[in-house]
Amino acid sequence: MSRITGVIQEDVQAIGEELEPILRPLSGATLLVTGGSGFLCSYFLDTVAYLNDHAWARPCRILCADNLKSGSSQRTEHLACRKDFRFIEHDVSRMLDLDEPVEWIIHGASIASPLIYRRYPLETIDVNVNGTRNMLDLAVKQRARSLLYLSTSEIYGNPDSAHIPTAEGYWGNVSCTGPRACYDESKRLAETLCLTYFRLFKTPVKIVRPFNVYGPGLKLDDGRIIPDLMRAAVSRQPIILYSDGKPTRTFCYVSDAIRAMWSIMMSDQNGAIFNIGNDQEEVTIHQVAERVRKILGPPWVEIQQRVNQDTQYLSDNPQRRCPDLTRLRTRFQWEPKVPLTDGLARTLQSFTQKCGAREAGSRG
Ligand SMILES: NC(=O)c1ccc[n+]([C@@H]2O[C@H](COP(=O)([O-])OP(=O)(O)OC[C@H]3O[C@@H](n4cnc5c(N)ncnc54)[C@H](O)[C@@H]3O)[C@@H](O)[C@H]2O)c1
Repeated sequence: MSRITGVIQEDVQAIGEELEPILRPLSGATLLVTGGSGFLCSYFLDTVAYLNDHAWARPCRILCADNLKSGSSQRTEHLACRKDFRFIEHDVSRMLDLDEPVEWIIHGASIASPLIYRRYPLETIDVNVNGTRNMLDLAVKQRARSLLYLSTSEIYGNPDSAHIPTAEGYWGNVSCTGPRACYDESKRLAETLCLTYFRLFKTPVKIVRPFNVYGPGLKLDDGRIIPDLMRAAVSRQPIILYSDGKPTRTFCYVSDAIRAMWSIMMSDQNGAIFNIGNDQEEVTIHQVAERVRKILGPPWVEIQQRVNQDTQYLSDNPQRRCPDLTRLRTRFQWEPKVPLTDGLARTLQSFTQKCGAREAGSRG
């Protein structure tokens, strides 16, 4: 049985200890997490497992629904034999019939990597649209106390310069026909569904739009920029950039994002939308690669620029992405705690820890 790395354990412990008072309503209740075998949502499972072990006399029952399309069974193996945990292998694009009540729902199932969603565009549309509708129907049927929907900052597309940093009120600049549209547009429709259910049925849904969250647990073969850099670093191969390295991003360490999402999930902010990210540093892709290189130290790996054989690799790629986090800050007194260099070092440490570095493609 695989274990989670020490870095993930530390993250989860810190999240659990800080947020235990607000998460207490989960004690004795049931939480369903879709996409729980993936990078972000596995942190929700681990937080609750930690609190069941260390804080609560009445455990929270944890249900994880995932079809393992882009997630990994390894990420939940350590939970498999627990009495408070049940894994349901299921495609949430199809209705999920549950034989037990559920009070809390986190809906994170999706195909989030551009590399993978361009390979499975119809499945991506299905999980984002039908999967979200199914979870909303389940929330209505079960009279859920809260449903947290993980949307994306990609719904803003490539924002014009007047809208950077980008606030939740921005309508977006998105192609509805390009190679990314299967993801961006279906996430937009999923948000429409969420707010329609909120207006029609008062479904207690909250929407979050994460901006480039990274950290331990990402799959090394995921195709997103941080895993690509980590894979090169772990194997001491040259870091390959398939762009001119000039587009900018802001990167948010996973524990900061999870703290924000838990706070929103447990709040009364029904029908509200929140950006999730870290606005402390907007860096070019080249600068991130340099940062990873510096953390690695000598012998330095090379940074090389190449043209990707996939001609659509850079189509509709946003040039700048930076969140306006005013809403999150003012309603939750939330601040990011982990600077980029520290977060990259923790991520790299996790990938090189024994169980994380067992093989490229496993989760670190
Ligand atoms: N990580 C980020 O920076 C980021 C940014 C914006 C939005 N998001 C959103 O957050 C959520 C989690 O993203 P992640 O980075 O953890 O990605 P991930 O790929 O690691 O996790 C997604 C999980 O959903 C599962 N899944 C996919 N299709 C499914 C289906 N039809 N039925 C059941 N399970 C299915 C996958 O197997 C995987 O375990 C996604 O909704 C994603 O769109 C993430």
